[in-house]
Amino acid sequence: MNYRHGYHAGNFADVLKHAVLACAALRLARAAKPVHAIDLHAGAGLYDLQAPNALKTGEWRDGIGRVLAQGQAPDVLKPYLDIVRGVNEKGELRHYPGSPLILRETLRPQDKISLYELRPEDEQALAALCKADKRVRARRADGWKSLGAELKPADVRPLVLIDPPFESDADFDRSLDALAAVRTRSPAATAIVWHPIKDEKPVAAFRDKVKRSTTDALLVAELAVAPPVKGERLTACGLLILRPPRGLNDDLFAMLPWLKDKLALADGANASWRWLIAPR
Ligand SMILES: C[S@@+](CC[C@H](N)C(=O)[O-])C[C@H]1O[C@@H](n2cnc3c(N)ncnc32)[C@H](O)[C@@H]1O
Repeated sequence: MNYRHGYHAGNFADVLKHAVLACAALRLARAAKPVHAIDLHAGAGLYDLQAPNALKTGEWRDGIGRVLAQGQAPDVLKPYLDIVRGVNEKGELRHYPGSPLILRETLRPQDKISLYELRPEDEQALAALCKADKRVRARRADGWKSLGAELKPADVRPLVLIDPPFESDADFDRSLDALAAVRTRSPAATAIVWHPIKDEKPVAAFRDKVKRSTTDALLVAELAVAPPVKGERLTACGLLILRPPRGLNDDLFAMLPWLKDKLALADGANASWRWLIAPR
């Protein structure tokens, strides 16, 4: 496993993922039922944008750097941007919050957060970051293998984030298996899968397989800051959302055109959302 999220923290893909995750968590947290967030690939939780790995790629400059440089963002992005501002000194951008912090800041005292991270130094940082928060349990364990045990047929509403490194296309198959576990073990669960778009073929095959496996609502969002080129640096990514909370499509509608405008790097930048399966 070579992947380290510190090289990519705060890039355009994180912006899309974390803005949508914040909206989804906030919408689920409007209901009385407690939410149980399960982050299968949690990372370190907080990233220093002046650390050597972040400076080496500088990806955050064309992601959260551009977004925060705008005076006015759509209201739908406010909760996400407030979380980013909350980990920084006023007017500065030095740190960037990962998915565990997005979940911590959007969920309520009665909610629960289970975090999985395999890389020892990242899990240590994560555990230290979350140790005072009684709602959170961080584990150095394989997220894929741990999902089944987390999905108990209980009275909570699970929110599963599937955000593997995608060092190979095998993560599409693992994500498919994880979605099958979510579907069969927890009829109320929402799941969000992040995936890269470098080559359309595996993406189309993944979506098609998920679509054929369920009749539940399936929403897809995409953001391309430039047209994807196979083998080149990532310029496009997607989120596939199983059983999105009601109204999340409105949030996508409100944020995506603005994000595309601000994050575009080349002609052919694009952002879109659509139902693969509309809610019944
Ligand atoms: C894309 S990063 C996660 C970023 C994080 N979800 C966020 O949005 O801030 C993927 C992470 O998964 C970890 N990882 C890889 N395979 C794993 C596995 N089987 N179980 C748990 N963590 C894994 C990597 O070490 C890496 O930190």
